[in-house]
Amino acid sequence: THAPVVDVLKGQYAEGETVTVKGWVRTRRDSKAGLSFIALHDGSCFDPIQVVALSSLDNYADVQRLTAGCSLAVTGTVKASQGKGQALELEAQSIDIVGWVENPDTYPMAAKRHSIEYLREYAHLRPRTNVIGAVTRVRNCLSQAIHRFFHERGYYWISTPILTASDTEGAGEMFRVSTLDMMNLPRDDKGQVDYAEDFFGKETYLTVSGQLNVETYANAMSKVYTFGPTFRAENSNTSRHLAEFWMIEPEVAFADLSDIAQLSEDMLKYVCKAVLEERADDMAFFEQRINKDVVRRLQALVESDFVRMDYTDAINILQASGKQFEFPVEWGVDLSSEHERYLAEEHVGAPIIMQNYPKDIKAFYMRLNDDNKTVAAMDVLAPGIGEIIGGSQREERLDVFDARLEEMGLSQEDYAWYRDLRRYGTVPHAGFGLGFERLVAYVTGMQNVRDVIPFPRTPGNASF
Ligand code: 4AD
Ligand code: MG
Repeated sequence: THAPVVDVLKGQYAEGETVTVKGWVRTRRDSKAGLSFIALHDGSCFDPIQVVALSSLDNYADVQRLTAGCSLAVTGTVKASQGKGQALELEAQSIDIVGWVENPDTYPMAAKRHSIEYLREYAHLRPRTNVIGAVTRVRNCLSQAIHRFFHERGYYWISTPILTASDTEGAGEMFRVSTLDMMNLPRDDKGQVDYAEDFFGKETYLTVSGQLNVETYANAMSKVYTFGPTFRAENSNTSRHLAEFWMIEPEVAFADLSDIAQLSEDMLKYVCKAVLEERADDMAFFEQRINKDVVRRLQALVESDFVRMDYTDAINILQASGKQFEFPVEWGVDLSSEHERYLAEEHVGAPIIMQNYPKDIKAFYMRLNDDNKTVAAMDVLAPGIGEIIGGSQREERLDVFDARLEEMGLSQEDYAWYRDLRRYGTVPHAGFGLGFERLVAYVTGMQNVRDVIPFPRTPGNASF
């Protein structure tokens, strides 16, 4: 057996003890004293371990030909390090070369600084870099913390379907799913195929949100959440949109807008605290190399209260700001990312919970407020990225819901099962969706969501 590098660096083996580690060469350099230093990483922590190879090794000639990317099994003695940067190192007793890099000149991850755009072209090799390694550990830490947060509070994790016939958000941004056979079915003179003949007997899509499904479980199990992949055919090439992204959607029965706003604040604080405690090594790297404010910003988030603001007040603030925005501001418009960022970054300087949006810019299921103009919606806007959470109290009153469906030209038939929740023991309930990649980008300071998901799907890009 072999030890993870993190265990050796954390001192789980005494000086003088023999241990085996396995991983990939990040760098190697020869010293004048006739020995070789190898930085070996295995993903278990930010730092590689320094392996000292003495010229007395049988295969020292081979060791001197090692380059970045070669894979090794090293058995060695744990020693206090003379060099700066690490307390412990491994003096090799043997170095087993598991896999050579066939031609170092063609190895795309050669040890130098690559641009983040360059790394995107090598989604299969980029996990070997410092930056993607750090993102991967923070992403994992966040997802574990999210599950822990809900578990500790008595929520059940519900698996909602990926394949669905409903357009939850009603935004028409769905990917259609069909069998290959279906693509060859005869078409009518308008070029339309008859979906009754297809696998599911109706037109089917990849889900844009698990919300409608998870609402059914909230109306029985009380506190639930989904955590799964969602898909949107948004043809927007921005740094915060993906065609495939992960969403966390809690849904709570007997809860209103302020309950769910509080839940979003508690959850974000809990998971950010977990990252500060568990991933200090990676966060120190992000602070140094990606964004110098990133750690301070997380600490502030954990310690301060989120600001709650009404949409109507936000419009007034934007109008009074004297700023020239690309998209003009007036009551009724959707907030664009420049508006969101102005509010979160310049006006407040911290996350904002924005509430009570005009009903015309929000989805059909949101609960109508008494003013008949706004709905009980909430978005969490974070500095540096804008909207990371969107949620609402749901319309639980059947008559109001039906009126809204009609107003939006949606059919009762299509929402029959959803209406049943309002017909049989309806209760006030509320929930939200957290975009996982936007959270990871916010926490790490990474500029683009494409760099915080292993294999980003964007317009024109589904390789790997
Ligand atoms: O605001 P959205 O559209 O809300 C919903 O889907 C609700 N059904 C959620 C609910 O109440 N259960 O999306 C929620 C979040 C956004 O705030 C954003 O963080 C993220 O999902 N998101 C995206 N992330 C990456 N790429 C995209 N194309 C995204 N679209 C939304
Ligand atoms: Mg939204």
